Amino acid sequence: MAKKLINVSVNGKAEEKAVEPRTLLIHFLREELNLTGAHIGCETSHCGACTVDIDGQSVKSCTHLAVQCDGSEVLTVEGLANKGVLHAVQEGFYKEHGLQCGFCTPGMLMRAYRFLQENPNPSEEEIRHGMAGNLCRCTGYMNIVKAVQYAAKKLQEPVTA
Ligand code: FES
Ligand code: FES
Repeated sequence: MAKKLINVSVNGKAEEKAVEPRTLLIHFLREELNLTGAHIGCETSHCGACTVDIDGQSVKSCTHLAVQCDGSEVLTVEGLANKGVLHAVQEGFYKEHGLQCGFCTPGMLMRAYRFLQENPNPSEEEIRHGMAGNLCRCTGYMNIVKAVQYAAKKLQEPVTA
């Protein structure tokens, strides 16, 4: 199949790659760019383990074609920390034990990252609703909710120089 050239910014880095039109974004990220943080759980848009951020929206990268990202800005879990400092959502999952096996965690983090921009001060019910597209087989979700609450609080703290 003829390849198509795409230009995409991934975690702030410009990438120009020739991809087959049928290539899924999750495969492009993992196999072409060696960004293996986003996981493949179901490949049917159910689990959310593959969630990334595209142009300010949470997207399940197993249901998105790489060619659809031409001209877009993609953020993956590898781009969340800033110069070695964990993002508030990463700190929240760490401090509140929001993970066990960790398989769902990259998708949870990316969804939490976007969700807290959509709703910076959510109730528990809103967190559960906002994160409902991401499944976890281990934690029972309570600590995931606490992790998102932790991050919401942290993100509202004044930034100190
Ligand atoms: S692997 Fe994409 S939603 Fe499960
Ligand atoms: S921590 Fe194991 S699937 Fe969520």
